[in-house]
Amino acid sequence: MSKLVINTYNKKATINKNIYGHFSEHLGRCIYGGLYVGENSDIPNVCGMRTDVVEALKAIKIPVLRWPGGCFADEYHWKDGIGPKESRKKMVNTNWGGVVEDNSFGTHEFMELCRQLGCEPYINGNVGSGTVQEMSEWIEYMTFDGLSPIAKLREENGRKEPWKVKYFGVGNENWGCGGNMRPEYYADLYRRFQSYVKNYGDNKVYKIACGANVDDYRWTENVMRNACRQMDAITLHYYVHPRGWMEKGPSIEFDETEYYITIAKAMYMDKIIKGHLSIMDRFDPRHRVGLIVDEWGTWYTCEPGTNPGFLYQQNTMRDAIVAAYTLNIFNSHADRIVMANLAQIVNVLQAVILTEGDKMLLTPTYHVFDLYKAHMDAELLDSWLETVEIGTAKVNPWQEISCPNLSASASEKDGVITITVSNADLSNTYPVDCTLVGKRAESVTGRILRSGKVNDHNTFEAPNTVAIQSFDKFDLDGDKLHFEMPPCSVMEITIK
Ligand code: AHR
Repeated sequence: MSKLVINTYNKKATINKNIYGHFSEHLGRCIYGGLYVGENSDIPNVCGMRTDVVEALKAIKIPVLRWPGGCFADEYHWKDGIGPKESRKKMVNTNWGGVVEDNSFGTHEFMELCRQLGCEPYINGNVGSGTVQEMSEWIEYMTFDGLSPIAKLREENGRKEPWKVKYFGVGNENWGCGGNMRPEYYADLYRRFQSYVKNYGDNKVYKIACGANVDDYRWTENVMRNACRQMDAITLHYYVHPRGWMEKGPSIEFDETEYYITIAKAMYMDKIIKGHLSIMDRFDPRHRVGLIVDEWGTWYTCEPGTNPGFLYQQNTMRDAIVAAYTLNIFNSHADRIVMANLAQIVNVLQAVILTEGDKMLLTPTYHVFDLYKAHMDAELLDSWLETVEIGTAKVNPWQEISCPNLSASASEKDGVITITVSNADLSNTYPVDCTLVGKRAESVTGRILRSGKVNDHNTFEAPNTVAIQSFDKFDLDGDKLHFEMPPCSVMEITIK
């Protein structure tokens, strides 16, 4: 029996809806074919954006979308992606498969996509190979509502009204693909570039500095020391590679040991968030600067027969558990994490949607975002969950890792309590006794994601192998709720 105690009197922080954000890069079939097919496509579209994909994303209420990269961001020159499509300059996408990028999806198209999705744009600027002038003019192009050659150019390209752009990243992974910089050098460049990212009219830019990879605390320390006064947030990237960076491991054909290693590695997110936050505290004791995990998720060996530069992978119940545990971790840090962006939204890495021609499927990870969507902008409730460690495995001769059997978070909005619980155990069902301190519940409903095997996944031929089902096996008595968590499952519980 596991105990779960939820204290409804103790509201810890508002869960920023942007924690449920996404990331789209000019990489493989994420933009082209995934989100955008062009106005002349036979695939139903509005202004080139796939209707099926847009509708599916609207159903999970995606709050924010990051673009154009990733590594691509520091090679992207935004002026190549505006104006008549036939005269847009082509380029080689050196990071991702060496394919020709025809720039038919640019600033106007991205803003149109965000309009259709009803989400905030998060633009990532180019520090690695761009200029200060270029970055400065991009913000002016998008947001200046006055007379200037750049604003006129926007009008000539069909858009008189400026857009609103709140989130702007100054470089991406500048310790790696974004210029191989030392943190001290990047901090100086950050200070310089951000000076020219101006606020026009009432558009107030939230400036985001490039943060660390995984547990590179030295990067966070140096960038915070030298530039924290000039930033609103700093980022963190963490990917889960079951076997390691070089070999990674397949997306579907994994055994139990590799599964538990994957979940244990996903749990490392909590440790590194705490590590980076404690460094940020030293330079920003008032917590003015937010932490943004703008790339996270599983990264496997790409599917056989696909372009290795396209990072296309399948998505199983293992990914659902990774997403469920990770989103509970983000919720638990709702006081400091202001945004997170799953990598990536369609057809790349831990995607929520896969497409093939005119076909589309929703992955198990999509369904987790569906089960968690009530947490967006809700108040995080203090909770305590009794867990045991499972799946102990040696990842090398001197290191053993394991993961908790259960993970949960709870929130409240408009008097409705949402609990998300996940059971990572592949064999055992866990009965859960939940006490709701300060709440006499009148009704409870549930939705669950589970499947016969952890390797189960959706295909274009069988798109509903893994799907949400309703769940009603609850015993509710005022402030006491009892239910059982089946093996390898994710559940949303709604209490009124
Ligand atoms: O998401 C794929 C890549 O991973 C991104 O382009 C880069 O920022 C990271 O290394």
